[in-house]
Amino acid sequence: MLFYTLSITILLWACANAQFGDFKQNFGYVNVREGAHMFYWLFYTTASVTEYTERPLIVWLQGGPGGSSTGVGNFEILGPLDLSLQERNYTWIKNFNVLFVDNPVGTGFSYVEDNKYLTKSNDEIALDFVELMKGFYESNPEFEGVELYIYGQSYGGKMAVDMGIRMREAEDTGSIKSNLRGIAMGNSWIHPVDATLTWGPLLLAAGLVDQEGYEDIQASAREAERLFNEGFFWNSTMQWAATQQVVLRRTTRVDFYNILTKMEVNLPDNLSAYEIARDSMIRDMPYTSRRQALNLNTLMNTRVKQALRIPERVIWGSQSNQVFDTLRTDFMKPVTESIEKLLNETDIILTKYNGNLDLICDTPGQILWVDRLKWPGAEGYRNAPRRPIWENDQLEGYYKSFGNFRFFWINVAGHSVPRDNPAGTNAFLRDMTSFG
Ligand SMILES: *[C@@H]1O[C@H](CO)[C@@H](O)[C@H](O)[C@H]1NC(C)=O
Ligand SMILES: *[C@@H]1O[C@H](CO)[C@@H](O)[C@H](O)[C@H]1NC(C)=O
Ligand SMILES: *[C@@H]1O[C@H](CO)[C@@H](O)[C@H](O)[C@H]1NC(C)=O
Ligand SMILES: *[C@@H]1O[C@H](CO)[C@@H](O)[C@H](O)[C@H]1NC(C)=O
Repeated sequence: MLFYTLSITILLWACANAQFGDFKQNFGYVNVREGAHMFYWLFYTTASVTEYTERPLIVWLQGGPGGSSTGVGNFEILGPLDLSLQERNYTWIKNFNVLFVDNPVGTGFSYVEDNKYLTKSNDEIALDFVELMKGFYESNPEFEGVELYIYGQSYGGKMAVDMGIRMREAEDTGSIKSNLRGIAMGNSWIHPVDATLTWGPLLLAAGLVDQEGYEDIQASAREAERLFNEGFFWNSTMQWAATQQVVLRRTTRVDFYNILTKMEVNLPDNLSAYEIARDSMIRDMPYTSRRQALNLNTLMNTRVKQALRIPERVIWGSQSNQVFDTLRTDFMKPVTESIEKLLNETDIILTKYNGNLDLICDTPGQILWVDRLKWPGAEGYRNAPRRPIWENDQLEGYYKSFGNFRFFWINVAGHSVPRDNPAGTNAFLRDMTSFG
C-alpha cells in the first residue's frame, strides 16, 4: 500500500508560470516506480472551443526505444514550434490536445536513478505508462473521460499496442478514468522479422540494388530470422544490425528513413553495426537531419531545460543508449498477438498508417503481419475495397478498413508521416477522431 501511494505521488514543482514558447501548456514528472521518473509535456489545443476538453487528447510516442517525444516528436514532427522555433502550420494542436511522453523511463527528460530501474520488456513499459497516465489525470482531472488516442511511431507503435491492453484493463477495474478509443501505429516496429525480410524485395523493386545485392541482403536477413526462431533473441538483434550494414553497403547508403533521400557520407567510422543501428532507431529520423540532431540536443539541454525548470542533474537523452540496450532481447519480438487480443476483446480502433518511402518499417513488411492476423474480421478486411485518399484534389494514398481495423498507405512520405505528408495525415486523424 505504501508503495502504491508513493508510486502515484507526483513530483510537482512551481510550474505555474514556467513554460517554453507562447502556447498554453502543462508538464511534469510522475514517479511511476521506485527510482523511475517519467516526464510528460501537454499542449492544449488552439481550436476555437469553449473548453479544451471538447477536443480529444492524443498521446504521441516516439520510437527507439529511447527516442524522445518531447524532443523529436514535438520539435521535428508535429508540435507547435519547429526546430528553428518557428510556428508549424500543420501542428496537431490546431485540432487536438497533444501529450508528448518521454517513454520508456530513461528517455528524453525521463530518468532512472539507477540502470536497474530500466524496463526489460514491452509489458513493463505498458505498466509504467498506466502509472504515468494515472499521475497525469491526477494533476489534470479535467481530462478524465475525454476521448484518448495513442499515436506511436516506429517502436512507439509497438509500445502503444501493449499499452492499449494494460490501459483497458485499468479502465475495466476502475483504477483509471481514461476513455481510450483508438491506437495508431505509424511506420511501426510491430513485426521486426517481417520488416527485415522485406528490405531486400523493396530495394530490388525500387531499383536500389541488383539481384546480387538482393541475395546478399536476404542471406543476412534470413540469418536474423533463423536466430529469432531458435530463440536467440539478442543474437537476432545483432544480426538485424548487421543486415543494415549489408543494405548500406549494397545501396551505397540509402537512407533507412526515406529511400529517396541521400544519407550524409560521414557516418562515424568507429562505431559497431549495433551502435549505428541503435543510434538511428533512437534518432527515428532521416540521416539527412543529423545536423538537426545536434541542434535538438542543444535546444533541449539549454533553453528548454531552463524554461521548464528540469532538475539540473537530468540531461535530456543521456540514458537513451541504456534504454535501448536493456530492451535488446525484446527488440525483435512481435506484438501481433496483442493486436489480435485488442481486436478480439475490445472496441478500441486500431489504425495502421505507413509512409510508402520508409525502409526501416517498410510497408511490405506491415502487410505480411496484417494478412496473418487472426480475428473475427480477418475475412471481412481481406474482402474490403481499397479506396483512394483524396485531400484537396491530390491523391495522398489509399485505405482499407473493416470493423475496428484500418490500414492507410500514405504516398510521398517516409518514416515520419505527420511531417512528410500533413494532408495525408489529416485523412487518418479525421477517420479516427472525426476532427482534423
Ligand atoms: C505550410 O507551409 C508550407 C510552406 O511554408 C506550405 O507549402 C504549406 O502549404 C502550408 N500548409 C498549410 C496546411 O497551411
Ligand atoms: C550469440 O551471441 C553470443 C555472444 O556474441 C555468442 O557467444 C553465441 O555463440 C551466439 N549464439 C548463436 C546461436 O549464434
Ligand atoms: C568515435 O570517435 C569520436 C570522434 O571522432 C569520439 O568522440 C567518440 O567517442 C568515438 N566513439 C567510440 C565508441 O569510440
Ligand atoms: C483472436 O480470435 C481468433 C478467432 O477469430 C483466434 O483464432 C485467435 O487465436 C484470437 N487471438 C487471440 C490472441 O486471442
